[in-house]
Amino acid sequence: MAASSTAIGDKRQGAMDMTDRHGERLIPSRVVIETVFGCNARCPMCLIEHPTERDKGVMSMEKFEALIDRLVPYRDQITMFDLFGLGEPLLDRFLPERVALLKNRGFTGVAVSTNAHLLDLEWRRQLLAGGVDTILVSIDGATRAVHETARPRTNFDRVVSNVEAAIRERDAGNHKTRFVIRFIQQKHNAQEWEAYRAFWKTRINEKRNDLVLRYHMHDWSGQTGGDATRIENNDPLAAQPCHHLFEKLVILANGKVALCFEDLLEGKYGFGNAFDTDPIDLFNAKPLNKLRELHSAGKKSQHKLCGHCTVLATEAGRVQG
Ligand SMILES: C[S@@+](CC[C@H](N)C(=O)[O-])C[C@H]1O[C@@H](n2cnc3c(N)ncnc32)[C@H](O)[C@@H]1O
Ligand code: SF4
Repeated sequence: MAASSTAIGDKRQGAMDMTDRHGERLIPSRVVIETVFGCNARCPMCLIEHPTERDKGVMSMEKFEALIDRLVPYRDQITMFDLFGLGEPLLDRFLPERVALLKNRGFTGVAVSTNAHLLDLEWRRQLLAGGVDTILVSIDGATRAVHETARPRTNFDRVVSNVEAAIRERDAGNHKTRFVIRFIQQKHNAQEWEAYRAFWKTRINEKRNDLVLRYHMHDWSGQTGGDATRIENNDPLAAQPCHHLFEKLVILANGKVALCFEDLLEGKYGFGNAFDTDPIDLFNAKPLNKLRELHSAGKKSQHKLCGHCTVLATEAGRVQG
């Protein structure tokens, strides 16, 4: 988990390189649009059912299209486009239309993360034919009991057979979508990682860049508790500027700009609403820039959310199976 000063320097340099062509404005390399807030599952590690001012629901196509229009000038710099936040994308009936719109406008790296419970034949057909670049699949155990403890309201057998079928259909149809099978490690499922990895390694197709991935649970900056790895004050990560703040623009289903994934529940730090103001202007506005300055000065611990965040520790423990 050690982070060298070179790594810190690299992050800052990386951020400097992500400016527009006049070197004046920071352009996100990754955009996250949460098109639906709401889920069919109730994972205990997730914030989905925590109290919030936000209403559950789906972003309208009209608002989505207006956002995309604003982002088109930067599509060459935006290399990752995530269509998920706090919710299950397959509850969003406009999802195929959104993917088609992004593809028509020339965006690459379009990704969806799903618990795969609803990934039936029709969804698979629409996503594969629609050319979504990556489907991240969230499966957290090698057995029914362990997976369904991590992901209540999903059915393990159904999830596994949906994903196996999706991979087969991708190969048979020669679709370009790649699959990332993702295991969030917690105390209660850690003993299943090796069996999980062995199982999915025989299902994925590495020639098509599929991956099996494990990373440790984070605790949404102290909002959920559990067994997330905390960053101690003397850990170099505690002073390291967070790359997410420099790289990632996160827009919630109600248009609010969130600080990062840890702020998905509410978007409560006053970074504005992308339905009213240009999202790249918000990404470069004073509130986010002031927070970046705090990070760059090694003082992120002074911020309520950043000071409790475990994400960098989670990333340091990431394993590719
Ligand atoms: C919030 S979910 C939304 C998309 C979809 N419902 C799913 O589960 O894939 C996005 C990702 O966050 C992960 N996630 C949720 N809670 C987490 C936690 N406490 N630590 C690490 N990852 C978490 C999920 O496993 C999933 O890969
Ligand atoms: S499936 Fe995804 S959004 Fe739904 S509760 Fe689980 S982690 Fe949260």
